[in-house]
Amino acid sequence: MKRRVGVLISGRGSNMAALLDAARDPDYPAEIVLVISNRPHAPGMALASQAGVEARAIDHRRFGTDRASHETVIDAALRDARVEIVCLAGYMRLLTPSFVGAWQGQMLNIHPSLLPAFPGLHTHERALAAGVKLHGCTVHLVTDAMDQGTILAQAAVPVLADDDADRLAARVLAEEHVIYPLALRAFAEGRPAVSAPADAVLRNPLPNERGLA
Ligand code: GRF
Repeated sequence: MKRRVGVLISGRGSNMAALLDAARDPDYPAEIVLVISNRPHAPGMALASQAGVEARAIDHRRFGTDRASHETVIDAALRDARVEIVCLAGYMRLLTPSFVGAWQGQMLNIHPSLLPAFPGLHTHERALAAGVKLHGCTVHLVTDAMDQGTILAQAAVPVLADDDADRLAARVLAEEHVIYPLALRAFAEGRPAVSAPADAVLRNPLPNERGLA
């Protein structure tokens, strides 16, 4: 039986689209049954609808500062759809401990850095400012501590001499689209999450000599 997945987005939805693409494979162990956006006009909503997946807008602005009520509606939609695994994919709202607790161990996120480096926002700018030579992305379990849950998968990319944040972001994003489907596959198959390297999905494109910063 395929595991039932709900995806939460706020914007572009390219990681959601990568998950949808992967889930088209009949052998993929998960199916995306619901996409929820807190922004009704998020471009990802149209992508989900075009793919034939129910796309539901649950606009946080309807709830003012009442974060818990917004999440109650999201939680009910996920439960109604019999979702078992939640994938955050560019979902730009902080989640309350109550929601995180309800989905603990069943909620994944993709973050655009090699955690534990650069949790939080503006990761590409911060990576450039720090002068790191490798940057990347991480799929991890969501816990109360932001961007600190168990790491399920990582991919590294080189930081090149002429990078700006946009170029670096694009290189990282291409890897996000690879590792999120791989991590969800492993997770849905119940492969243990992951402190042994053998279980981690680790992609390391070799930096080429000419490009190294
Ligand atoms: C990605 O960079 C992801 O790592 C971060 O938010 C961005 C979402 O992009 N959490 P998209 O909406 O999946 O295109």
